Amino acid sequence: MFIYIFNIIEESALSILTILEFPDERLRKIAKPVKSIDSSIQKLIDDMLETMYYNGGIGLAATQVNVHLRLLVIDTSEEKDAPICLMNPEIIHKDGEFEYKEGCLSVPESYEKIVRPSHIIVKGLDRNGVETEIEANDLLSTCIQHEIDHLDGKLFVDYLSPLKRQRIKTKLEKMHRLEGKE
Ligand code: NI
Repeated sequence: MFIYIFNIIEESALSILTILEFPDERLRKIAKPVKSIDSSIQKLIDDMLETMYYNGGIGLAATQVNVHLRLLVIDTSEEKDAPICLMNPEIIHKDGEFEYKEGCLSVPESYEKIVRPSHIIVKGLDRNGVETEIEANDLLSTCIQHEIDHLDGKLFVDYLSPLKRQRIKTKLEKMHRLEGKE
C-alpha cells in the first residue's frame, strides 16, 4: 500500500530539466516526429512546462532539453495559465511582418530584434494526440516560429550578423567557463 502510493507520487513528481545552451552542438540536431503518445511523452510535456515556467520562459522546444522529438510547449499568457503543447508542428500559412526583441532560454542574457511573419496558421497534434490547428499573431506567432526553429536545429542568433553571433558565443563560452560547465 505504501509502496503503491509512493509510486504514484514518484510518477507525478515534476522535474526541472537541464537546458542546453548555445553553442552546444546538440542544439543543432534535427528533431524526429513524435510517433506515439504514451505516458513518457506526457511526463516530458509536464516537465518541459515546469522547466519553462521555472526559468521564466514563454516557450521551450524538446531539443533544448536534449530530447530530439518534434514537441514544443508555449505559454505567452500574462497569468501563465494557458499552456499550449504542440507535436509535429507544421506551418501551413504565413504572412505579414512582426519585429520582436527575442530571447531564448538556450541563449541566456541576450535579446535581439528579429523580424518574422506576424500571422501564421500551424497544424500539429495537441498533448492528447488530437490534430489541431492554431492561428497565431504577433508574439504567439513569433514564439511558435522560434520553437519550431529549435526542432530544426536553428537558433534566433542565426538571424543575426556573424559578428553579433560571435559576440554572443564568446560571452556565453566565458560564462560557461566561469560556471565550470566546460
Ligand atoms: Ni529558444
